[in-house]
Amino acid sequence: MQLSSRLQKFNEPETLKMAKLGRELRAKGIDVIDLSLGEPDFDTPTHIKEAAVKAIHDNWSHYTPVSGFQDLREAVCVKLKRDNQLDYQPENIVVSTGAKQSLANLILALVEDGDEVVIPTPFWVTYSELVKIADGKVVTVQSTPESDFKITPAQLEAAITPKTKAFLFSSPCNPSGAVYTKAELEGLADVFRKHPNVFIISDEIYEYINFVGKHESIAQFADIKDRVIIVNGLSKGYAMTGWRLGYIAANPTVAKGCEKIQGQLTSGTNSITQKAAVEALTGDLKPSMAMVEEFTRRRSLVLDLVKQVPGLKCFEPQGAFYIFPDVSYYYGKSDGQTIITNASDFCMYLLNTAHVSSVMGDAFGEPKCVRFSFANSQENIKKAWSRITDALAKLK
Ligand SMILES: Cc1ncc(COP(=O)(O)O)c(C=O)c1O
Repeated sequence: MQLSSRLQKFNEPETLKMAKLGRELRAKGIDVIDLSLGEPDFDTPTHIKEAAVKAIHDNWSHYTPVSGFQDLREAVCVKLKRDNQLDYQPENIVVSTGAKQSLANLILALVEDGDEVVIPTPFWVTYSELVKIADGKVVTVQSTPESDFKITPAQLEAAITPKTKAFLFSSPCNPSGAVYTKAELEGLADVFRKHPNVFIISDEIYEYINFVGKHESIAQFADIKDRVIIVNGLSKGYAMTGWRLGYIAANPTVAKGCEKIQGQLTSGTNSITQKAAVEALTGDLKPSMAMVEEFTRRRSLVLDLVKQVPGLKCFEPQGAFYIFPDVSYYYGKSDGQTIITNASDFCMYLLNTAHVSSVMGDAFGEPKCVRFSFANSQENIKKAWSRITDALAKLK
């Protein structure tokens, strides 16, 4: 059977692979604690669910406009003004089946053979693979725990070439939890001012899960705003991962390009989800804020627990719900049976010995680190880290 060579160009998401391995062990009756997946463990707030039920009864059951219902695109504009003090019109907005599709549309609309896309490491697993699917070239810029997992303007400047089509980053960052300040974004904006052909893709899906203060968007700098594409969605901030709703805010030409791609791939996203999304974006934010308060408590808990594990160097996340410790202290060590040579061995060892799933940093462009989610109950976090501590103590 001959499948297309396209399939060889990119990898499947390591996050989903690890979750699958965890599920397989669970099917054998093993109590696996999943710290691999990136999703809130909360239920969707009631007022949003009620809006969806109403939409079903009101018979919102037909195909939807490709870029989204007008009232939803207006609601996105209201949200961008309320939360980010940014002015957009519905013609700037394209609603998609998850922020993942928003990013896929964008990369397909912007990038072609040989175009370079600059991505700071560590980055969300899907960024690099989407660029490869579009025949683009991934240019990584290394950030480190010492630089708080952020890149400097000088690093950005050095990475840009005449072939650079776009810069793609997330703040708050998955997996590191780094959050760029306004001053740091201004520093990057200064570089983009010198390179007027570069698009700036700003993934802000973890906007609400921020432990250090106000979210800042790079779209706030008026003279580059036309080239900034904000990507956001409901998955993380409203516990709506399964509803599948993401959106972009972009200049109308880019928005039209994404709409054209989406029109041939999926058409408009789910009608019921869109009606629920209007309520999510314009309704009561208290349930979301309550989730963030719980994430804040879990963050403190997990940081305390990690400090007790010898050899793990952990950057304190400022946003999102992951810790991303450097685990390389354990490379070369063994429990007498398994030798840990890299992050993949480390994750497999924890899965098989501690029955805790995590994701190797290689997938995020940082082979020394491993990502552990804290979007899990405090009880499970305590149990998982106790098991991890015991398993790692066996490595000599
Ligand atoms: C940084 C980042 N961007 C985008 C997404 C995609 O979110 P969704 O497709 O669920 O809207 C995720 C999900 O894990 C993410 O971590």
